[in-house]
Amino acid sequence: MPDSMSIGKYAKAPADASRSPCPVVNALANHGYLERSGRKIYVEDLNAAMGHVGMSPLLGSVFAVPTYFEYHDPALAYTRKPVSTWQRAWSVIGNPYSYFDYFGCWKEKQVTDNGRKYLNLVDLASHGAIEHDISLSRRDVGQAEGNNNPQPDLIEEMLESSLDGKSLTIDDLAAFIKARIKRQLKDNPELVYGPAEHQVNCGQIALMMGCFGDGKTIPVSYVKAIFEDERLPLEEGWTKRSWWTMGLAEFFGAVRNLVAKVDVNFDHPAAS
Ligand code: HEM
Repeated sequence: MPDSMSIGKYAKAPADASRSPCPVVNALANHGYLERSGRKIYVEDLNAAMGHVGMSPLLGSVFAVPTYFEYHDPALAYTRKPVSTWQRAWSVIGNPYSYFDYFGCWKEKQVTDNGRKYLNLVDLASHGAIEHDISLSRRDVGQAEGNNNPQPDLIEEMLESSLDGKSLTIDDLAAFIKARIKRQLKDNPELVYGPAEHQVNCGQIALMMGCFGDGKTIPVSYVKAIFEDERLPLEEGWTKRSWWTMGLAEFFGAVRNLVAKVDVNFDHPAAS
């Protein structure tokens, strides 16, 4: 459990801390809502931390719980036994979260002596689980910079894509993603980015717009705090949604809307 004395206070990550490709999860660790070291994070803690950014308990658990399923490297998918539709249906009846088991980032040996599974934040960078190519602020797993560390030049470009300089709209972010796709098609010969990765990418943006913005816009100063400092934008005036948290229906509606707005042509992505 995080140290109760300093919970909520922001501090930069300690030098040897484990951090993830998710700026919000990192911010939650930098505020002490998760272990500041980013190590030995238990599912209950990750789940509870989602409440600190205004997600409903159900939506939070849809993100937190499946992360603790086992990671399967998509590059080794051919080595796995095929699963029948019945087996899949049966496992979803037994545990509805297993519908999202492809989000699993947990590795076999990460169990404490008393049998509790844990993650280190760097595990969230396991490629092909939640982590995908063409992020807003990270480069790709196939590039020298790797897929986990924030890239200041990309963050700067994202902030500059605000047309009015004050807030980022869905249209601004859609234009930024399209520019990122064109750039990565040139820069990363190993690029993997199809409708599934795009859906997850839009999901992450929808979460940010819903929890930190009004669903359609988000102040540039908030995005700067989240991505540059990996900090909750409290000083900038953000307050957590509390009367009406972000729930499943709002989330899926926002993702649908975003996918339609970004409108990528997967037959000819460079022409999108
Ligand atoms: C259990 C909870 C969560 C997990 C496991 C998680 C995991 C991840 C991972 C693995 C990525 C990297 C995807 C990539 O770009 O390759 C990511 C990105 C992102 N996440 Fe999270 N996340 C969680 C919660 C949240 C919440 C609550 C928010 C916002 C309210 C959020 C906002 C974002 C954003 C905006 C990105 C995009 C970063 C970028 O493209 O550079 N995440 N998340």
